[in-house]
Amino acid sequence: MDITPCDATLGAVVTGIDLSDDLDDATFAAIEAAWYDRGVLIFPQQGLDDWAHIAFSRRFGKLERSIKDEANENPEIIMLSNLKADGSLWPHKSEHGLFLAGNRGWHTDSSFKRVPAMASLLAAHQVPDSGGGTEFADMRAAYDDLEAGMQAWLEDKVAVHSYLYSQGLVGGLAVLTAEEQTALPAVEHAMVRRHPKTGRKNLYMGRHASHIQGRDEGESRALLQELVDNACQPPRTITHVWRAGDLVIWDNRCILHRGQVWPGDQARVMARTTVAGEVDGNGGNEWNL
Ligand code: OGA
Ligand code: MN
Repeated sequence: MDITPCDATLGAVVTGIDLSDDLDDATFAAIEAAWYDRGVLIFPQQGLDDWAHIAFSRRFGKLERSIKDEANENPEIIMLSNLKADGSLWPHKSEHGLFLAGNRGWHTDSSFKRVPAMASLLAAHQVPDSGGGTEFADMRAAYDDLEAGMQAWLEDKVAVHSYLYSQGLVGGLAVLTAEEQTALPAVEHAMVRRHPKTGRKNLYMGRHASHIQGRDEGESRALLQELVDNACQPPRTITHVWRAGDLVIWDNRCILHRGQVWPGDQARVMARTTVAGEVDGNGGNEWNL
């Protein structure tokens, strides 16, 4: 196995390994250690089917399941796809297209939940000829780079994260029933968190963060935007240009990501598993959308 760090504060490309093999504990431990160090691991050309994708993901913890009643035999797999079953495409401006469009803002998966996601593993099944890359940003390095005064100010700040807020902004709520929407109350998360495995501090925010608790809504929203804009700059960013068969895992606790747009007349089919965050050592709050 070869692990080559990307030319940035995060990310590494891992080759010389077949993730569909039953990996021994030492090999998995080496993968996990590299992942803690780099935050994002890119495994080119794995070509995993859903079963192998799920099996590898389970090594990291319990998996979230979709709350939507999709015609998918594996509820642990979330399809991010503009391809319909009949072979036609959802236009970018359709209900489903707008739902997907939410992913184009910097975010961390499931931060709108009481227990946010630990990790996401995204596999490319079908990719467009151009566009459709995924960008990642290192919120550990972003925290380190803040002035000491700002770090101190943020220490006790809590952001309010709301799916209705973030998806409402992009017009992407129509795919949810009224019942599903009321099941998504806003939640609060500390803006500075310490990674449970590495002990490193990082900023925690992204598009689901509506404002800072107890502060003026407009002003704190502007500050959140400024923090994200400054954080998501080189050398703290990488972009992955997908080829079909690639698998990427990122650490939602300390990495932001966003998807890039692609030509609306082309299919992009991605499959994702999501490792649930831990509550007292156990996977918690294991639903997803
Ligand atoms: C995700 C996501 C962006 C993309 O899988 O959670 O935000 O590029 N994906 O598809
Ligand atoms: Mn995402």
